[in-house]
Amino acid sequence: MALERPDPHVIVIFGASGDLTRRKAIPALYNLYAENLLPRHFAVVGYSRTDMSTSEFRAAMGQAVARYSRSGISQRHWRPFSETLNYFSGTYTEPEDWERFKKFLDQIDSEHGTQGRRLYYCATPPSAFPQIANLLGKAELTDNSRIVIEKPFGYDLESGQELNSSLHEVFEEDQIFRIDHYLGKETVQNILVFRFSNGMFEPIWNRHYIDSVQIDVAESVGVEGRGSFYEGAGAIRDIVQNHTLQLLATLTMEPPARFYAESIRNEKVKLLRSVVPIEPDCCVKGQYTSGVVNGRSVPGYREESGVEKGSKTETYAAMKLGIENWRWAGVPIFVRTGKRLPKRATTITVVFQDAPHMLFENSGLQKPEPNHLTIRVQPDEGITLTFGAKVPGPDMEVAAVDMRFDYDESFMAEPAEAYERLILDAMSGDATLFTRADEIEQAWEIVEPILPQSDVEFYQAGTWGPEAADELVEPRGWL
Ligand SMILES: NC(=O)c1ccc[n+]([C@@H]2O[C@H](COP(=O)([O-])OP(=O)(O)OC[C@H]3O[C@@H](n4cnc5c(N)ncnc54)[C@H](OP(=O)(O)O)[C@@H]3O)[C@@H](O)[C@H]2O)c1
Repeated sequence: MALERPDPHVIVIFGASGDLTRRKAIPALYNLYAENLLPRHFAVVGYSRTDMSTSEFRAAMGQAVARYSRSGISQRHWRPFSETLNYFSGTYTEPEDWERFKKFLDQIDSEHGTQGRRLYYCATPPSAFPQIANLLGKAELTDNSRIVIEKPFGYDLESGQELNSSLHEVFEEDQIFRIDHYLGKETVQNILVFRFSNGMFEPIWNRHYIDSVQIDVAESVGVEGRGSFYEGAGAIRDIVQNHTLQLLATLTMEPPARFYAESIRNEKVKLLRSVVPIEPDCCVKGQYTSGVVNGRSVPGYREESGVEKGSKTETYAAMKLGIENWRWAGVPIFVRTGKRLPKRATTITVVFQDAPHMLFENSGLQKPEPNHLTIRVQPDEGITLTFGAKVPGPDMEVAAVDMRFDYDESFMAEPAEAYERLILDAMSGDATLFTRADEIEQAWEIVEPILPQSDVEFYQAGTWGPEAADELVEPRGWL
């Protein structure tokens, strides 16, 4: 855990003219600065091909912080922070650029007292990651440094392995920090605390008491102008292989021996090795057609720009998984993710088994919902426990009621942005919330059988997906 300020650092952001830098990386660094969490000696170098001066870069980042920072922008913090921002325009092909860049970094070190310690943050399209790693190696810029990369970590098992090998040619595994921003969310970290600091639930966290688990990652947005990117991805690559399987591993892994990165990551890999690769007949793929979301008419996926007219890319996927180990054998795990659904919500629902004998079954009343625990990952962060209670009155009527924990009410604070925590941890060398090479490869193995394109079921934008998905969860129903 990063509690102290990290050692002096230069953060080099490759692809600094892009969307991720503007929307996430720089606003996160600004908030860390405002909260006094950055190293005392610190500088940022934005690197990309676009021709831009440092003062233009600072001005663009000022606008980005004003727009995207969760705490807004205050001149008191922005002015000194902006002085740590620098820009270097260069290619990823010309060796002379990297000679100049090396000298530039030396100069930054001497101006800011950053002692040659570097965090390289790759905010470029993934095709550039191996090239950047290779150039850093050739320029002898890898000592005393770490590299952060963003998903997607490959396109399938083979390309995931190739990416890992090309990074390992230059960096040791403990220098590589693969961001799955879900792991930086407070609610996801809280799954560990919930499970391993409370005696109450762990004894029943197994197949003897749990009937099934549902993981939902619902988005109300469509492809947001990124149609051509999404055509090469789809819901399984974009969400299931990374975010969903990380949520699943955190929820179902065995307790680690210690709260150390390697203990936790070992348990997650062990769990992922127990997940049976998903058969195509356990997966329903869907694609949205035009409809109405949040009162607004939206086009169908095939009408989005950059999308093929006859595209079979799935914008929705529902599947049934199984974990073959002593704790979870026989407990179905249902996963559902999609775009243009009625609302944005990521939840994990743990459904408990019914009471062994229903005393109130003969009252002629409808059976209440099963007991379940809902972890609200985002938005409306918190946890709800739903159980049956007697409805006041002369009859023995049972109704489902909730016990709720809400982050904002209990802690009077909005959870910090995942990127803040992750950047800080990467500077401190704490890999607990980052994905290791073998985790990535194992996750690809799980989804590999359902990656090939196949027919999609259509669903209207603004609905909860194709009806065929409901058959997967029979007789339980989605909660
Ligand atoms: N945006 C997000 O919210 C988000 C979320 C999760 C993950 N990611 C991942 O984060 C990375 C960056 O995302 P982004 O949305 O910021 O991407 P982007 O805007 O498409 O690209 C970032 C920058 O990379 C440079 N670039 C483009 N093509 C390149 C190439 N072939 N080689 C080297 N540089 C190239 C461009 O700068 P120059 O032309 O000036 O060099 C561009 O401004 C991607 O891997 C993406 O998948 C993004």
